[in-house]
Amino acid sequence: MAKTYKIAVVPGDGTGPEVIAEAVKVLKAAANKFKFKMDLTTFDFGGERYKRTGETLPDGAVEELRKFDAILLGAIGHPDVAPGILEKGILLKLRFELDQYINLRPVKLYPGVETPLKNKGPQDIDFVVVRENTGDAYTGTGGVTMKGTLHEVAVQSAVYSRFQVDRCLKYAFEYAHKFGKKARGRGEKNTLALCGKTNVLTYIYGLWERAFHEMGQAQYPDITREYYHVDATCMWFVKNPEWFDVIVTGNLFGDIITDLGAMIQGGMGIAAGGNINPEGVSMFEPIGGSAPKYTGKNVINPLAAVCAGGMMLETLGEAKAARAVEAAVMDVTANKLKSLAAGKMGYSTSQVGDLVATKVAE
Ligand code: IPM
Ligand code: MN
Repeated sequence: MAKTYKIAVVPGDGTGPEVIAEAVKVLKAAANKFKFKMDLTTFDFGGERYKRTGETLPDGAVEELRKFDAILLGAIGHPDVAPGILEKGILLKLRFELDQYINLRPVKLYPGVETPLKNKGPQDIDFVVVRENTGDAYTGTGGVTMKGTLHEVAVQSAVYSRFQVDRCLKYAFEYAHKFGKKARGRGEKNTLALCGKTNVLTYIYGLWERAFHEMGQAQYPDITREYYHVDATCMWFVKNPEWFDVIVTGNLFGDIITDLGAMIQGGMGIAAGGNINPEGVSMFEPIGGSAPKYTGKNVINPLAAVCAGGMMLETLGEAKAARAVEAAVMDVTANKLKSLAAGKMGYSTSQVGDLVATKVAE
């Protein structure tokens, strides 16, 4: 009997619903072709609902979402809602409550896609960032005293436990073992690079570095270990992106370097990520925002959401279908789209979805 996956769909704000509609179109084509079923349930969490009800996530929402096999998310962020409310109340809350401790962000330049890096092509830009997704400056540890006075003091602490670091490193080593450049037939070795700041953040990245080498030496001697400071990482992303294979880093550095990564792979139109709990419910999203100025115009690029859907299939265990989605996206970038930028694709949002879905069905 065909497998059925229960998928929660959260289209969210702005262009989220438009790009999610195309991702769903492609997923349905994949389900049809690869003989699995999807049972989709849509949730209206986001800025509009918040404006109407004053609620970010209603009571019981997290428990409800726990019952699904995966979550597909569009975008969170609304021009009428102060920054931080929806991000913390929906996106970060789901990541934390569902303990999605990995944020997996591939940086891959597809054929036909323009990169701002001179003389670099798909051979050079093909790596993955494993961003820790529960700790660091994101825990809300800190506070403000003497607020509003000239002596106001603000503290926001970066926090990591050995447990958090170890489980993230384990995922990253396993990932490098399965999907590193050697494993993918793209190089001589599988490499895991730690991106940190051991020269200044000596406590936090001292812990990461010790744990990294201990685990690597004891359990993954075949995986080459490298270390880069975060500032140097930014430099090498631009100058020598071909050096990288799998990179593991803390939450805040991971947030920052993956925006740079998104730009060198062709922009927010294509960059996707997965918030992964390897033992639980994972959530997949385009890493760009809600793009209010393009909302409702049928011009936004849906490929990032489509790629997020592909990553979801991989995590659900539908590896063949995931590969077919990626191959279809690559076919469309190589042979169809003029540009990945909103309004400049040469096709509308829904036409791009049609192109990918048709290719998947072939
Ligand atoms: C991301 C975003 C979020 C983050 C924001 C919206 C809270 O920038 O997914 O990278 O900082 O993690
Ligand atoms: Mn970010």
